Amino acid sequence: MVDSLADHRSLVPNEAIECIRARVLHDTQTVSIVDYGAGIKGGEQAQTRHVKKRLFSIMKNSATPPLQGALLSQWVKRAKPAKILELGTSLGIGTMYLAAGDPGTKVYTMEGAPAIADIARQHFIELGFSPQILQFVGSFDALLKEVQSGLGELDMVFLDGHHAYAPTIDYFERLLPSMAPGAILMVDDIRWSLEMWRAWRTLQRHPKVKQSMDYWHLGVLRLRTPDEVAHPAHPSLTIWPRPRRRWLMRK
Ligand SMILES: C[S@@+](CC[C@H](N)C(=O)[O-])C[C@H]1O[C@@H](n2cnc3c(N)ncnc32)[C@H](O)[C@@H]1O
Repeated sequence: MVDSLADHRSLVPNEAIECIRARVLHDTQTVSIVDYGAGIKGGEQAQTRHVKKRLFSIMKNSATPPLQGALLSQWVKRAKPAKILELGTSLGIGTMYLAAGDPGTKVYTMEGAPAIADIARQHFIELGFSPQILQFVGSFDALLKEVQSGLGELDMVFLDGHHAYAPTIDYFERLLPSMAPGAILMVDDIRWSLEMWRAWRTLQRHPKVKQSMDYWHLGVLRLRTPDEVAHPAHPSLTIWPRPRRRWLMRK
């Protein structure tokens, strides 16, 4: 068993990353993005389309919030993964929190919107994270096979994009052969929609999953190692109640 991180009071947001967030939250620049469409909350799936958005609104609505970022760092600090794959870079906030967890960890991150990936790259350079982070730009669907074959075994995956049932399950199944025994899978926005909740419940019950931890917005799964038997019930350890400090914990 991996000890669950039981208390959010031990989490401290990273000052340098939070300075970038604070600055971008005032940036009215417009960027063109590819919306892969997780659809409307509740299930309906949207088409892929190009839309224009302001940077502050992307930061406000898509970036990992401060305490959740600190939680990602803590997981990296404890699990010491050699390689992490993140699906959904956005402006790079979560990516930098993952990298900040352990300077020895390599973070590979995929983003479908080139203009956003560019801005994330500038953030990585600004904070000195670029030697640790490798970016891939394109749709998850198109990139996944090639990226997987080039990276070998992954110790941690952060699934944070295309929040709908079918793609979430599909990416998980496709990633499984590349995941190390005992690897950690983090899934964001598990309560964002009914579809995402269903996806999380399906993943929790997957025979390859040994342990699951529920941090309300973020779900963390640990895969079985070969010497561990499948858990009959796959219990969910609900660790955190609905966070009260919405800005810190919620997009
Ligand atoms: C919620 S944001 C990621 C937030 C980021 N991980 C963080 O922690 O701050 C999701 C990102 O995934 C990208 N995305 C969603 N679906 C995608 C797909 N199918 N292929 C490529 N990128 C996708 C979006 O463009 C968006 O920038």
